[in-house]
Amino acid sequence: STSSGFRVAIDGPSGSGKSSVSKKVAAHLGIGYLDTGAMYRALTWYCLDAGIDLDDTEAVADAVAAMPLEMGTDPKAASISMGGNPIDSDIRTTRIAEVVSKVATNLAVRPKLQQRQRELMAQIAADHGGVVAEGRDITTVVAPDAEVRILMVASEEARLARRSKEVHGGADESMIAATHAQIVDRDKADSTVSQFMTAADGVVTLDTSELTFQQSVEAVLTLVERATA
Ligand code: DC
Repeated sequence: STSSGFRVAIDGPSGSGKSSVSKKVAAHLGIGYLDTGAMYRALTWYCLDAGIDLDDTEAVADAVAAMPLEMGTDPKAASISMGGNPIDSDIRTTRIAEVVSKVATNLAVRPKLQQRQRELMAQIAADHGGVVAEGRDITTVVAPDAEVRILMVASEEARLARRSKEVHGGADESMIAATHAQIVDRDKADSTVSQFMTAADGVVTLDTSELTFQQSVEAVLTLVERATA
């Protein structure tokens, strides 16, 4: 590791476990955390709030510089605000989930948010000795030079069961069906702009289908220890 801090990049589809595992790993290591998906969600929220048409690709791209977004870095506390207002729960609603892909697949938006994510990762790593950043294109576009790069995957069955329990409180047949529409279709739309179903060169694939949460955390910590030894 260096004085500017080490960077752990974790990509993967919905339900792979990357969010909960990334936060736990960052907390365990006492370093910072960046949720890049939350930035696409926050931009979506800002545009809806400001009456910006999500189909107006240039107006949405201009909103990246205009929005007063503040990203928290503490893995133990959600802390995303817009102009001083916490929006953590507002960006997790189905209203946002249903349209966020439109913003995430906007090719005028991506380079702008990616640049901001690169700057944030460097800043957080310097301030906190390191950073865990998670998303869809961190290992490939935002931080291809990160010290640790992981693609977290899981079978569709495992991903659906996890997300269904999170969102619907269970995983019976009808809950799985509702979840399928929400995550499989969204991942399909998102994967047209970011390749997060197969690992790029030098990226370690971690399949969590058969792992418990704790085992997934330990697997990531082992990879970090190896890279920083
Ligand atoms: O991980 P999430 O569900 O919070 O992500 C929200 C949306 O943003 C989802 O459509 C995937 C997209 N995304 C992306 O395109 N690139 C990232 N680095 C992170 C998320």
